[in-house]
Amino acid sequence: MLRTPLLYLSNAGWSRQLITHFGVARRTARRFVAGETPDDAIAAIRALNSQGINATLDHLGESVTNQSEATRAADDYVHVLGRIHDAGVRANVSVKLTQFGLDLDDEFCARNARRVVEEARRLDNFVRIDMEDSQHTDRTIAVFRKLHQEFDNVGLVVQAYLYRTQSDVDALLAEHARLRLCKGAYKEPPDHAFPRKADVDANYLRLAKQLLAQAQSLPPAGEGGRVPPLPAIATHDERIINAVEAEVAATGLPRQYFEFQMLYGIRRDLQQRLAAAGYPVRVYVPYGTEWYPYFMRRLAERPANVWFFLSNVVKS
Ligand code: FDA
Repeated sequence: MLRTPLLYLSNAGWSRQLITHFGVARRTARRFVAGETPDDAIAAIRALNSQGINATLDHLGESVTNQSEATRAADDYVHVLGRIHDAGVRANVSVKLTQFGLDLDDEFCARNARRVVEEARRLDNFVRIDMEDSQHTDRTIAVFRKLHQEFDNVGLVVQAYLYRTQSDVDALLAEHARLRLCKGAYKEPPDHAFPRKADVDANYLRLAKQLLAQAQSLPPAGEGGRVPPLPAIATHDERIINAVEAEVAATGLPRQYFEFQMLYGIRRDLQQRLAAAGYPVRVYVPYGTEWYPYFMRRLAERPANVWFFLSNVVKS
């Protein structure tokens, strides 16, 4: 019931101004965001690495409105790839193409993304392109394909809630794309996405099995914890995770041929259980000052988070 209004608010400028004004919102967001600086993010990654968990770093930001902001976002990623390398931590990066100017000019955006992927290749690292709302799906896939023709250290996210994803996955697997499968976090109309959660979950499991079936066609996870295996199963849904574990056991797929992924601050118990059981686990670690839309999507996913936030407001 709260999902739709919260996703609406995640895009509303007036709500951003209001909510980010309160220190209590920033403090509550810290449950999901590692901090504001690269140092904060590297410290969070070190803590995860010490528990046997890899990371993917997200410098928060999306939907930029001018080219200089987009260029700066790409510069920041180039810089943070160097920081990851120098710190020797096991992390790659995740990027959003609207942060690199996808809403301004596709070619310009592709050049920014290329710069980051090229630097990642130089440093033996990997770039995952997040998937945003369905208005951007075609253009995101087009930029990914362009990069993937030239580089093998770039991967893409697909969303189980979209009807189109089955055919996207069929085509992308034929191109040996490394895919992260998630459910999907944006507000989508019923002609684009399954309205019922049960249908999203069923589609997720179907697609996960398809990705696992192809998992041996690309090399497994690299030793340095940066280049991931072909499929990334990104969910905190224990029922799906149990089903994936059962599928892996039944098919005998070696664990290094796929990885589980989860978000920073969510189901740490499950992250640790899977890592202790010998599965590669990667946590998505966001940092930066542009935490508002990311935070609102996390609230929208779970009503209990809204009460957690409101109780902090009352206490403050
Ligand atoms: P579901 O929503 O069914 O939740 C299952 C259980 O997980 C819940 O019962 C609860 O215990 C826990 N949980 C889930 N969300 C929680 C929250 N916010 N707070 C506390 N507990 C929570 N989306 C997208 O559209 N594009 C993208 O590029 C990405 N990238 C991405 C990367 C990674 C590594 C992950 C894990 C997720 C994404 N997502 C994403 C987000 C994804 O689409 C989805 O919105 C969330 O993962 C929540 O869905 P679950 O699969 O966890 O299932």
